Parts: sequence; C-alpha cells; structure tokens
Amino acid sequence: MTSSPLPPLRLGIAGLGTVGAELVGMLQNKANFLAQRTGRTIDVVAVSARNPDKDRGVDLSSAQWFSDPVEMASSAEIDAFVELVGGADGAAKNSVEAALSRGLTVITANKALLADHGLALAALAEENDTTILFEAAVAGGIPVIKALREQLAANQVDRVYGILNGTCNYILTRMEREGISFDDCLADAQALGYAEADPTFDIEGFDAAHKLALLTSIAFGTEPAPSQIAVDGITSISSADISAAAELGYRIRLLGFAMRGEGGVTQRVHPTMVPETSAIAAIDGVTNAVAIEGDYIGATVLQGPGAGGKATASAVAGDIVDLARGTKIPTFGIQTGALAPFTNAEPRPDARFYLRLHVTDKAGVFAAIAGHMADNSISLESIVQRRRSDEPDDAKMIILITHGTTRAAVDQAVKAIAKDGYLVSDPQMIRIEHF
Ligand code: HSE
Repeated sequence: MTSSPLPPLRLGIAGLGTVGAELVGMLQNKANFLAQRTGRTIDVVAVSARNPDKDRGVDLSSAQWFSDPVEMASSAEIDAFVELVGGADGAAKNSVEAALSRGLTVITANKALLADHGLALAALAEENDTTILFEAAVAGGIPVIKALREQLAANQVDRVYGILNGTCNYILTRMEREGISFDDCLADAQALGYAEADPTFDIEGFDAAHKLALLTSIAFGTEPAPSQIAVDGITSISSADISAAAELGYRIRLLGFAMRGEGGVTQRVHPTMVPETSAIAAIDGVTNAVAIEGDYIGATVLQGPGAGGKATASAVAGDIVDLARGTKIPTFGIQTGALAPFTNAEPRPDARFYLRLHVTDKAGVFAAIAGHMADNSISLESIVQRRRSDEPDDAKMIILITHGTTRAAVDQAVKAIAKDGYLVSDPQMIRIEHF
C-alpha cells in the first residue's frame, strides 16, 4: 500500500531584508534537497515587504506580493507565516496575531516580539491549535532552542549562560586584538549585517536580554520576564578596561546568565571578565556560545555563528523543515498554563568585581575608598594604583578586585565614592566569573 504524497507546504514570508532574501534564495536553491528530507515541496507563495521594486537578488516572480503583512497573514493561499519584519510591536505583532488566530504556524526570528509578548502569543497559538517556532530568534544559527525544548527536555536545567550577541562579541574581540575603536567596530558589524536595525539594542545589551528571556522560559518552565533581567551593555567598556583585564589574565565578554537559585531564578546580562584560558574567552568575533547545565547531561556547550543572513536563514529553514515533517511542540516547550510566574532568586554574596576608579591624586583618597568598601562589607582581593602615561601627574587609576560580595553592595560603595568628589571620570564595575 502506498500512502498519498503530502501536499506542498505553502509559505508566506513577511520581511525581505538580509535574512528574508537569504531564506528565499536558500529555499529555491535547495528545493529538491528539502523535498527529499521532508517528503513534500516547500513553496514560497507569498511575500511582503515595503518596496516591491528593490532588487533583492532572488526570483520572487512566482510569489504573490503583499504590501501589508497582516493582509498576507489572512491569505487562504498560505499554510504557514514566516515573520522576519522585526520589532516588538506594530506590523510584526499584528501580522503574527492574525496568522495565529487562523491557526497558521508562525516561524519567526523576532526575539523582541517574543520576549515582550511571547506568553500572550503562545496562548493564542494554543487556542488555535498551533505553535510558534523561533530557533532563529536566539543565537543565530546555533540550534539551542531545539536542544533545550526537545533533546534536553528530560533534564532539570540549573544554569544557562553564554555569549548571545554577535555584534558585541565582534566589537569586544576586535577592540582587544586590533585596538580598533568602538565606533569603527560597530560600523563594520552593521555593514556585515550582524547588528539590529537599531544597534543600541545590541550594544546596550537588550538584544541579549531578549534572547536570555526566551532561553530562561524554556529552560526553567517560567513565563518570559525580560523586565526582570538586570542589563548592562558594553558602551562603557574602554580600552583601559580591556588592557587592565589582559594584565590581570582576563578577557571581557558580554554574557547572559540564567540560574536556578533560592526562591526562583536569577537572570542577568552584563560585560564579564572571564579567565583568558577559559573556553568562553576563546569565542571570537560574531560567534555565539551557549552553555547548558542539567541534572543528567552535566554541561553541554553549543557554539556557532550568532548573526548574519546565512546563519539566521539556516535556523528559519530548520524550523520550516520541522513544520513540513509535522513536528509540533508548544512554543515554550510546555503549555502556557503550566509555565510558572517568574520569581527572582535571592542574590548570593559570591560575586567578585573589578572596579576601575580614575581619581584625583590627593591625600586621603585611598583611605576614603577603602572606608566605603568596609562600610559595605566588601573585602578586597587586590589593589593596583597607577598613573597612565597620557594623564597629568595629579590623576591616578585605581584598579580594585573584590572578594565575594553582592552587586547591591558594590553599587552602594560606588555611589558613596562618586559623592566624595575625587573621581575624574565615571567609575567602571565589571563582574568576574570563573567557569
Ligand atoms: N544583532 C544580533 C547579534 C543578530 O548581533 O547577535 C542576531 O540576533
């Protein structure tokens, strides 16, 4: 007995920027290859973007053109809706809601949309017996959503952390290796298609925070809670910090962390000093890396391209293949009604910090700084004072490394130091982690 062949999977793709155009080209170039893997053809039958006249380097002649993605989401000609418009609200949200309301599966790369509205959208998907696939939203081409949502689903995850923003890693590693300015590195990242439409999302840490919120939800079975993430970006990282870190045996990476703790989960995104010999310090350029620690797996690390058209298109296409094969898993791994409300874990007093204080060189400054540290029960592991060659004699750079403490204690101490009036530039504080 032969079973009847599956009907073609008809896609509507909204957004034809770097990723959308790459995806259309990939689906066309690999049409036979994908049909063999899924047992059906995958057709791009509709597309939506603002400018129909722009040459995107792909043949769109057989696709129906929609200037409004919401209208495309309502088309009876499509079976699934691919959202590559971007942005947490507006056309992206409206069109995804329209598609889910009709029971269409949504495939998206939009981490901001899912971090901010994922719970409501996942619930809407469930009501309409469908789901949202979003591998491309987190860590570009790395299959981390699939790993957490499917293959590691039998584990209790205790910690997820890693490099979640390619643009920041690209900037930090080029500053470190080539001594290139922050602005030049950012411009190159934009030209290479790594950065978000608004690159402040990258450099202020919000892009990494959106991704972390999604990882946390799947890993810990909690509602996405991006507003509960303490976020510091990389804009304050200077070449002085990069060279001080190197002298101390560290490199600086923007990391996202989510950890099971007392009473809940801790989530944070911040520049981090990591030992130069650690695996994470070796992650260069646009590469992302995500470590997952679970009760049966121990630790596993996935690394790969975190941004860019090809890597992101690969992730979207992987979701399309899953859909074509008939895989259906709840958006965040479990039904929305089973997701626990997010609660913050108690802070643990085991964080070590690097502090860079640029001070006027006068009697009593050092004693005052030490006093504020003692007032906040912060014990110091090392203290280095030096004058930079490009500064006047009366300015000094003080580098402090603390023993284990809390972020709140360091914030208090730094606030008190800033009030004293001897700082000649903004103080810097970077958490130190050993893996
Ligand atoms: N702007 C993002 C990054 C792209 O640099 O990682 C992928 O989300």
